[in-house]
Amino acid sequence: MSPPPRPILILFAHPALEKSRVNRVLARKVRDLEGVTFHDLYEAYPAFDIDVAHEQGLLSEHDLIVLQHPFFWYSTPALLKEWEDLVLQHGWAYGSRGTALRGKRVLSVITTGGSEAAYQPGAHNRFTMAQLLAPIEQTARLCGMDYLPPFVVHGTHGMDRQEIERHSSDYLRALVALRDGRLDLEQARAYPRLNTDLDAIIRH
Ligand SMILES: Cc1cc2nc3c(=O)[nH]c(=O)nc-3n(C[C@H](O)[C@H](O)[C@H](O)COP(=O)(O)O)c2cc1C
Repeated sequence: MSPPPRPILILFAHPALEKSRVNRVLARKVRDLEGVTFHDLYEAYPAFDIDVAHEQGLLSEHDLIVLQHPFFWYSTPALLKEWEDLVLQHGWAYGSRGTALRGKRVLSVITTGGSEAAYQPGAHNRFTMAQLLAPIEQTARLCGMDYLPPFVVHGTHGMDRQEIERHSSDYLRALVALRDGRLDLEQARAYPRLNTDLDAIIRH
């Protein structure tokens, strides 16, 4: 028997969706997938008035938390940072009595203007994605969550439609495999990105 599906919460943060070429397509591909709750933070909170109790309730109901956003100034868009600051409360998410998130998993799904080659020591952006994402990784760890290698779509500037479509199909494949417990997490950790070689980490 296959393991039960693991419900997925996608926290989507893009402040200018009407201008998006890549995240819009990625989001469309997965938002109606069975087992997925798609939550557009900028749509829900255009004035940044985050409903903390509602967000904590959503987190409690899901097993895999996906943070999907464009890379802005080597980080998340502002509303996702605000969400972290308000929702991950002491005594709830961390601290000796803060155990609500323990055992859940976190996956960053990020698009970057810069190429993968630019995110290397000595290259244009000087640091690797793993280094730049350390605050998110460590935040997840502090909350007792399992941080997965990020799914990163590099080089969005000038990316053609076919390539965007290919990345969105990979995103769908990765989420379905995670939901159905068919993604080899140990093997996945050998790669810098979850989408480095999906064939190598997805079991059939
Ligand atoms: C305010 C802002 C900051 C950005 N910062 C970065 C950055 O630090 N690194 C990078 O590679 N691209 C950066 N970009 C480019 C975006 O990541 C890129 O346009 C986006 O991933 C494309 O996705 P979309 O088509 O869904 O908007 C930035 C773009 C904006 C508007």
